[in-house]
Amino acid sequence: MKVIRTKTYEEMSYEAAKLLAAQIVLRPDCVLGLATGSTPIGTYDQLVKWYEEGNLDFSAVRSVNLDEYCGLDGENDQSYRYFMDHHLFNRVNIDKANTNVPNGKAVDPEAEGARYDELIASLGGVDIQVLGIGYDGHIGFNEPGPAFIKPTHMVELDPSTIEANARFFASADDVPRQAITMGMGGIMQARKILLIANGAGKKDILMKSLYGPITPEVPASLLQLHPDLTVICAVDE
Ligand code: GLP
Repeated sequence: MKVIRTKTYEEMSYEAAKLLAAQIVLRPDCVLGLATGSTPIGTYDQLVKWYEEGNLDFSAVRSVNLDEYCGLDGENDQSYRYFMDHHLFNRVNIDKANTNVPNGKAVDPEAEGARYDELIASLGGVDIQVLGIGYDGHIGFNEPGPAFIKPTHMVELDPSTIEANARFFASADDVPRQAITMGMGGIMQARKILLIANGAGKKDILMKSLYGPITPEVPASLLQLHPDLTVICAVDE
């Protein structure tokens, strides 16, 4: 595990973008595992800047996103598909047909999970997976629980996650109660993992995840076992 502590959100975003850009330059048709939430926005902005300056080419890049809310389609401005289009895909020369987000409107979430895992396998796996972290240690939408769940699956969101994500909705009542998320298996199979965290409020859960016991009660703690984990964080006051 490599930990890079930065002083500011901007610096964290710059360092994270550097790793992703290096991956794209190294393998132009790489598979990026992408995340949503407020944390990666600056990273995506930096990638867009390099693209606009002519230094980064997304034309052959493929992507898979971690998760999606159940019941929301890509037109809904709270969906993660919309988030990705808005913050990254519409702003660079990526082929939208090569971008993948779980289908939140799937009638059979189990079949959708199986489809998504097969899709990731057919792409040859994820080269670098970006992760944020929830205040309860969730990654993607893998919530604390009695066991790590390996495949892409549907989850009931934790009340604390619903509350934390309510800031993006008109009210907590509007936050979907369920989501489809890549499982811990898919995440751990990525060849590289890049975990980013911002804000002093994330420090405790980050320390617990990286240095505490490995337990499904803290899903991110499993990352300790990944052979190529880079953590970039701006969590000091
Ligand atoms: C959501 C997403 C996670 C993300 C988390 C933290 O629950 N499913 O992938 O890491 O929010 O979000 P933020 O970066 O806004 O703190």
